Amino acid sequence: TSYDQRFRPQFHFVSKKNWLNDPNGMVFDGKNYHLFFQHNPNGTEWGNMTWGHAISEDMIHWKQLEHALLPYRVDRRSGTIFSGTAVIDHNNSLGKQVGDTKTICAFFTFAAPPSFYQAMAYSTDGGLTWTYWNDGRAIVDNQGFDNGERDPKVFWHEASGKWVMSLWVQRDPGRVRWFTSTNLVDWEFASDLMRDWAFECMDVVFLPVDGDPENVKCVIYDASFDYEIGTFDGKEFHVESDTLKNARGSYYAAQTFNQAPNGRAVQIGWMRGGPNSAKLFDVPHNQQMAFPVELELKSTPNGVRLFCSPISEIETLVSETHQFENLSLQEGVNPLDGLQNLDLIDLEITFSPGVADEVVFNLPRTQLRFVSDKHQLLCNGISESGERREEICLDQLTERDGKIHLRVLVDRLSVETYAFGGETFSANYISPIQQEKLSIHSIGGSAVIHDLRIRELQSAWK
Ligand code: FRU
Repeated sequence: TSYDQRFRPQFHFVSKKNWLNDPNGMVFDGKNYHLFFQHNPNGTEWGNMTWGHAISEDMIHWKQLEHALLPYRVDRRSGTIFSGTAVIDHNNSLGKQVGDTKTICAFFTFAAPPSFYQAMAYSTDGGLTWTYWNDGRAIVDNQGFDNGERDPKVFWHEASGKWVMSLWVQRDPGRVRWFTSTNLVDWEFASDLMRDWAFECMDVVFLPVDGDPENVKCVIYDASFDYEIGTFDGKEFHVESDTLKNARGSYYAAQTFNQAPNGRAVQIGWMRGGPNSAKLFDVPHNQQMAFPVELELKSTPNGVRLFCSPISEIETLVSETHQFENLSLQEGVNPLDGLQNLDLIDLEITFSPGVADEVVFNLPRTQLRFVSDKHQLLCNGISESGERREEICLDQLTERDGKIHLRVLVDRLSVETYAFGGETFSANYISPIQQEKLSIHSIGGSAVIHDLRIRELQSAWK
């Protein structure tokens, strides 16, 4: 497969060809990170849901393998494979381990109308071949609230020594049901969490506050990345925060790698709702993953918040770095003057808009506008049908000590923007524009750039 088409994302995961949506089964096996994904093997629109499969040692350079889980038929019911998670069966709870290779167990929703149920498949060869447990029959039967209950999150809970599943089972009122297990196939009801915001793709992640290992909190979130911070006692979640939100734009159905080294929490989200790029941009794929982000809990004046910032492995892609300091943006001053050939970039800036009405960033294929009186950062987004439209990337972007801090990743069809170290971020599809001249300038008065770092990135497909 070649990935070198002009409008093919170069440092974001895309399938070799055809449709992709949610990340699934994200897990680290001791050597490789596995990324499965909702995939249509037969077309560039959603359908025939299958788990595609890719592996990577650094979460940046991916190699797509054979599809892992394909639609099947059992007891005269045909179904497709919806979202879910995977674990490394580190203590051989399932009892299927062969030699030293730990079993990988993938939990998914068998989408077999009229009602969905949860099933499991396992691999004893590191993820190359898969066996459906009990021929793909239910390990957790439909709970009777919603025909479409789905997207099991399974993880190991060290304190109780059990496997835990959290499952979205009902929309109105929103209900998340927790189960526990010792063998990964018999699941016992533990508790119900009633939350109106909860809808699809629950994830659960444990993180220290400000890096303090004595103060670990549990974060739960759904597909839209509404989240709550609290504690989990092995059976029940106890909330300690309001319902919060971090991401904007097209970010959806994100999940974190299970069993990542050093308790690291790295998340990947699907960039939902892009236009059919295969039809518009002469590429073989449609839809992309967002760039992986590191999750951290940090204290802020408003309380503890979840921060998301691009994983440091991005450094493996950096080819050149350009740095600027203390620039006053006046007529004739353009930090990008000598950099007209930029393509893939990771830009970081601290600036003071001062009295300027706007600060404009004419970057490769995208224009970002910081509009002072609206406190917004806007971009040239693109609708599902392919029309260009101005989109809000970041909202309520107010200066702190007169300054704004941004990080911006620009790929061929997307822009990701992170404010103040990832306190909020956005992933947006863009309608690529042919720029006459790359520039950073202000309108209606001079703005000051305190620090600007532009890192040129190489393709991850090489
Ligand atoms: C979220 C979702 C999941 C479902 C999957 C189907 O985007 O609707 O709830 O399992 O996509 O592809």
